[in-house]
Amino acid sequence: MNHTDILTVRNLNVSYGESKVLFDIALGVRPGQVVACVGRNGAGKSTLLKSIAGFIKNVSGEVRCAGASLLGVRPYDIAKMGIKYIPQDKKVFSDLTVRENLELGSYATQDYNWDQVTDYFPKLKQLMDRKAGFLSGGERQMLMIGRAILGTPRVLLVDEPTEGLAPSIVAHLKTVFGELSRKAALVIVEQNLPLVCAISEKIYAIKEGRIVTELAGDQLKTGICEGYL
Ligand SMILES: Nc1ncnc2c1ncn2[C@@H]1O[C@H](COP(=O)(O)OP(=O)(O)O)[C@@H](O)[C@H]1O
Ligand SMILES: [Mg+2]
Repeated sequence: MNHTDILTVRNLNVSYGESKVLFDIALGVRPGQVVACVGRNGAGKSTLLKSIAGFIKNVSGEVRCAGASLLGVRPYDIAKMGIKYIPQDKKVFSDLTVRENLELGSYATQDYNWDQVTDYFPKLKQLMDRKAGFLSGGERQMLMIGRAILGTPRVLLVDEPTEGLAPSIVAHLKTVFGELSRKAALVIVEQNLPLVCAISEKIYAIKEGRIVTELAGDQLKTGICEGYL
């Protein structure tokens, strides 16, 4: 963590009602950097991304983007600052077309970078007028990421993007994340350790709501990461 971080989290504590889920989380991401968070189910990974994106109320500590505090800022305004959150549940508006779903992602910023979306996901071009409810899991994930990059995000928060997807789509997403990282900072929650080891500069292992280790450089090997899960 240092002053060049675009996203800085310090001392983050989060509860759902009486139940405390995150304890003193600290992380930092620089522009152009991919960092990953790994950990078992229930460790608090999704809660961490939701807290940064403004979806959780009971949060204390410090969350900053380029120096500006995000704590207490509404999700809509956080999105407007260029921080785009791609949730784990892959929920889309089933009755809206792919094009309409994509457009909604830029409602806050009114920034429509259509070429970027279709360059990364040529398949979406053919699907623009299809109702999103008819998409496959892989197409839906392309839509989710497409929606986030239709604007020009500074930070992408991506929750388990490859969960349940076919290997060919996972390989495509790996390339996409590698290229996107040149334009934005990425925080990826992912269970696919070979993938995160290949694309990340830094990995945080989270266990029961705490960061138990931070790995970088030649520690980014599947076997080493597994040891912390
Ligand atoms: N909306 C919620 N209300 C209460 N507890 C929750 C809620 N969402 C998640 N939790 C609990 O918080 C913990 C962390 O969940 P989560 O952040 O989803 O973990 P992960 O994404 O690592 O699987 C779990 O114990 C989970 O049951
Ligand atoms: Mg999760």
